[in-house]
Amino acid sequence: MRIVMIGDGYVGLVSGACFADLGSHVTVVEADHGRLTALKAGRIPIYEPDLDRLVVENIAASRLSFTHRFEEAVGGADAVFLAVGTPSRRGDGHADLGHVFAAAEGLAAALTGPTVVVTKSTVPVGTGRRIAALMAELRPDLEIEVVSNPEFLREGSAIRDFMRPDRVVIGVETPHARAVLGQIYGRLALGGTPLLFTGLESAELIKYAANGFLAMKVTYINEMADLCERLGADVLDVAQGIGLDRRIGGKFLAPGPGFGGSCFPKDTLALMRIAQDAGAPSRLIEAVIGANDARKSGMAGRIIAAAGGTVRGRRIGVLGLAFKPDTDDLRDAPAIGIIHRLSEDGAKIRAYDPVGMEAARGLLPGSVHYCRDAAEAAQEADALVIVTEWNEFRSLSADRLKAAMRGRIIIDLRNIFEPEAMRRAGLRYHPLGRPPGRAAEAKVRMSATAADADAQPAMADAA
Ligand code: UDX
Repeated sequence: MRIVMIGDGYVGLVSGACFADLGSHVTVVEADHGRLTALKAGRIPIYEPDLDRLVVENIAASRLSFTHRFEEAVGGADAVFLAVGTPSRRGDGHADLGHVFAAAEGLAAALTGPTVVVTKSTVPVGTGRRIAALMAELRPDLEIEVVSNPEFLREGSAIRDFMRPDRVVIGVETPHARAVLGQIYGRLALGGTPLLFTGLESAELIKYAANGFLAMKVTYINEMADLCERLGADVLDVAQGIGLDRRIGGKFLAPGPGFGGSCFPKDTLALMRIAQDAGAPSRLIEAVIGANDARKSGMAGRIIAAAGGTVRGRRIGVLGLAFKPDTDDLRDAPAIGIIHRLSEDGAKIRAYDPVGMEAARGLLPGSVHYCRDAAEAAQEADALVIVTEWNEFRSLSADRLKAAMRGRIIIDLRNIFEPEAMRRAGLRYHPLGRPPGRAAEAKVRMSATAADADAQPAMADAA
């Protein structure tokens, strides 16, 4: 099929490269000449594992190309995907649809024949119909159908999520549009991926409802972690104990400093507004937003308390800046608020992140020292804080950390270390929701590869 992708961010570039890899001919439209030149040369403007290989291979196979003009791309296209950004509108949390409608207008002017316009960007319910009305007004001479095809890509695993999705959601209104999208996703369907065809509004809401539920699930386990700390329970056992129930599932039950990123914060706010505007406010989503904001802003206080009540003049090592591992994305990352508050309280921050430091420089106080590696961040630190669970941090030795640090305090906001190993090394270890130094007991461990409810738990390993 011939596809045009408008937008080359996390969603547009990954989707365009994957559609090409599945056999379609894809033209990505990018207005910025600098970005366009880089893309044509296979230089990727975002950090997403394996994306550079996928783009270069599909450019070489002449299935993927880039242009800055709609006119060059839309001729003969079977479908045009809108994958432009829909950030939160300043101040009120509604999704900002400026880029979406600008792309729709530019597209309307360039179209020379009937086409299917597909919104892949996350857009409020009803946006598809508004785009259809706008294009019918601008081009009454053309048959333009609008489809909703929301994405469920996680940063850091976006290609895998695209190529092996749990489902593809397609909101369509005509048999023709259904046939076109069925062909575009034909290879995935042949591989067993369910294609869920539904109406426009349902497809648009499914995206928000999914992210809202996942954000609620994360917020729930964060609250259980706080409860565990007061009851002497272990939240990792509680997460496994409820996650083994197939109705709950084991994913998104890892406690942390609060969710961040480019989607959960934006989508929960937008869903709250959509529900309020529709006269069906969601008390649950409102509570999730409030609880998450409170958690993120309370993390620095937790660190200060663990450091004995003050960090003034103290050297604090911070491991991890990105909002999650395998991405350089700092949007709504917990580390940003934590570092600002600790710096305001007089701490000397030495930070390390494998890929996020460049993006962080413009967001953090100028006094922050950026380190070459985790060892440098731990060097002479009075306290060390784990904020993002990069795999390379998990293998840090407790003895080597103790030898490098000046103090003995480790605050682990992602529970990447074993409390017993930390205690044995003589460190004062502060996990989330876990007893600080309880000897590990025999546990039923989820299989290491797929910690979801469908995986059979591996035999208990004597700890
Ligand atoms: C999310 C959705 O997962 C994806 O389907 C959607 O298309 C885009 O938004 P993403 O924002 O990339 O993806 O990250 P995700 O892996 O979902 O994590 C979101 C936030 O929740 C991160 O801050 C992460 O640290 C946090 N999280 C996630 C937890 O704290 N605990 C968990 O168990 C899982």
